[in-house]
Amino acid sequence: MIRRRVKVFAPASISNLGPGFDVLGIAVRRPGDIVTAERTREPGFTFTLQSADPRIPASARENVAGHVALLMLEEIRPPFGIRLTLHKKMPLGSGLGSSGASSVASAVAVNALLSKPLPKYELLRFAVEGERKASGAPHADNVAPSLLGGLCLIRSYDPLDVLQLPVSNRIIWIVVHPDMVVKTKEARALLPGTLPLQTAILQWGNVSGLTAGLISGNDLCLKKCIEDNVAEPVRARLIPGFEEVRRSSLRAGALGCSISGSGPSLFAVTTAIRLADSIAGAMVRTFRRTAGVRCDVYISKVNRDGATVRSV
Ligand code: HSE
Repeated sequence: MIRRRVKVFAPASISNLGPGFDVLGIAVRRPGDIVTAERTREPGFTFTLQSADPRIPASARENVAGHVALLMLEEIRPPFGIRLTLHKKMPLGSGLGSSGASSVASAVAVNALLSKPLPKYELLRFAVEGERKASGAPHADNVAPSLLGGLCLIRSYDPLDVLQLPVSNRIIWIVVHPDMVVKTKEARALLPGTLPLQTAILQWGNVSGLTAGLISGNDLCLKKCIEDNVAEPVRARLIPGFEEVRRSSLRAGALGCSISGSGPSLFAVTTAIRLADSIAGAMVRTFRRTAGVRCDVYISKVNRDGATVRSV
């Protein structure tokens, strides 16, 4: 079936998940970005941005969605043109994989219009270029889950090798996005260049235990292993109220809480559905009290679909 006009939704993602810096990420159901795209008879590429935020680049070369689409078109050279619109729904610098969702939605939309679309996995190498554009680093722990859905483990970057792992449906993901901005590039600049061996041992112990907990839904694994001794200690200061909010989530019954991606959003997990709203409420109140900011809250189970396309 040849598609002439498509609408793609690419979901937000929680990357790192505590200890898994640059290697673990999970897709959630909301929020997300939308791209619409259509074939045009005349060759070439037209990009339009629909957003209320003036900070988001509107030119095709500067916007990650335009950049990814152009890279694909330059390589694939289809015998038609594409008119593409990014409906930017996600906030910038949120830690929810906003640039990743735009990059993924664009790659999936361009691909869906091709006469012979590439397998979804092949789109990863284009989507990471959007991340390189946005933050200077082609990290894949947002784009992989946003594209493929579920829990993704970036086993290797060179070559890029992403494993999709099963994830327990018991786990409820609570994401609290305070009204502040953290630029991934700046948050990455704070990270240490090397790690003491003892820190590395602690970290890979936690990554392994967390991965087991995510697959099994075992409360104890989640409780013990959502602990980040590498990025969180240096990034916490970018998020006013971080420690108080984290503690408030644990007091309200969360199994664990850490920074979502490079922040400022925080995520918390529980396997008790009755606790989800009160954990979120505690976090929102604490952000308001300690940092004077309002928050958006997203509560969902894992999104197993990743980016979805429909013909329109
Ligand atoms: N793994 C990346 C980082 C995610 O923590 O810098 C950015 O959203």
